[in-house]
Amino acid sequence: MPDSVSSVTFPPAFLWGAATSAYQIEGAVREDGRTPSIWDTFSHTPGRTAGDETGDVAVDHYHRYRDDVALMAELGLTAYRFSVSWSRVQPTGRGPVVQRGLDFYRRLVDELLARGIKPALTLYHWDLPQELEDAGGWPVRDTAFRFAEYAQLVGEALGDRVEQWITLNEPWCSAFLGYGSGVHAPGRTDPAASLRAAHHLNLGHGLAASALRAAMPARNQIAISLNSSVVRPLSQDPADLAAARRIDDLANGVFHGPMLHGAYPSSLLEATRSVTDWSYVLDGDVRTINAPLDALGLNYYTPTLVSAASGEVKGPRADGHGASEHSPWPAADDVLFHQTPGDRTEMGWTIDPTGLYDLIMRYTREAPGLPLYVTENGAAYDDKPEPDGRVHDPERIAYLYGHLAEVRRAIADGADVRGYYLWSLMDNFEWAYGYGKRFGAVYVDYATLERTPKSSARWYAEAARTGVLPP
Ligand code: NOJ
Repeated sequence: MPDSVSSVTFPPAFLWGAATSAYQIEGAVREDGRTPSIWDTFSHTPGRTAGDETGDVAVDHYHRYRDDVALMAELGLTAYRFSVSWSRVQPTGRGPVVQRGLDFYRRLVDELLARGIKPALTLYHWDLPQELEDAGGWPVRDTAFRFAEYAQLVGEALGDRVEQWITLNEPWCSAFLGYGSGVHAPGRTDPAASLRAAHHLNLGHGLAASALRAAMPARNQIAISLNSSVVRPLSQDPADLAAARRIDDLANGVFHGPMLHGAYPSSLLEATRSVTDWSYVLDGDVRTINAPLDALGLNYYTPTLVSAASGEVKGPRADGHGASEHSPWPAADDVLFHQTPGDRTEMGWTIDPTGLYDLIMRYTREAPGLPLYVTENGAAYDDKPEPDGRVHDPERIAYLYGHLAEVRRAIADGADVRGYYLWSLMDNFEWAYGYGKRFGAVYVDYATLERTPKSSARWYAEAARTGVLPP
């Protein structure tokens, strides 16, 4: 019998994690043989990030990882999701590994294991080696093969001690924000290139999954983290329903179609014909992408509300993915994005925990038997220390409570959710927004780099310790 949902008690084996990514926290961008990634280039290009901020120092995790892992242990985390910087372990994206770069991740993982924290390793969290971008980036087929080679190298090196592997983080952002709207690195604005990038990210995932499978012990789990959108129509009008289906194809179907169902949705191929002919999808690609997965990672922040546009659409798009005159959604100029009603976080994203429930239940239906993890969920608020140095963030506690309660409801309704990773362990470089948006459960003073757990971190620690959400 499942526990009553009202007590919000989680199964004993449920993982209580936190997540980060390499470029957002590590700093040390020129150390130990690391070469620039597309995010180094992008953030150093004037006007690309708020205040022209970069990840050069970030929160200096590269030098402070021991203290950061000690903090995780103090907070009772049982899992930690981090990413490997490709250009740290395989500078330029080709050729042999640089042991010094890899050693950092060996030390990090050993430290985690010594403290009983389960590592979950993401291979790609958006920081493509610049040399691969110079050779064409994700729109080019070779990048998928380079990614698989890198995956194999990291799998061989760390497969003995890391059981949870995530190939790509949010490939939608890499493809459509990186090559479509241009608000992310490499900052290109070419709808056809964004769809080519999506396919080659998919192919890279499939090739990497097979390479990892061959390089590592069979007990390891291979997954991907998708920022699957919860797309809702503004009304039940057939035109609005069609608009929602179109965005669902472009946000979700383009990835989970080939990955989970062995085909790109025909409606997606049809709707994007004016932009691309999909001739770069070669025989056998979809079979490669359809490589078996052991788990699926879901990243969720806010739902997407759309309608059909009546009349001409002008101006920046209110789709929550940054200001750009270029849309990240190819061949969807006749779709309008709306702000979902309700309270919002500092990102302007509406708080709606039911979206997380809907997402989990969708994948429970679409991928029966596949264990699910919430690999990211969290909120940015304008946190400030009190005079006594403490940081109180009741809004973040309310956000986490609401979303974790929906995870628990989904488990009670039959979903196999094995863990939750709060985004983020600590405040960090929020991409184009720079350091202005604080997602951390731990506050970082950017002048001193001192870490102070916020009240949400204490709240989360209590949840992790007891398996019950504190009120
Ligand atoms: C998604 C990304 O994976 C992460 O890097 C980012 O900081 C958060 N969402 C918040 O925007």
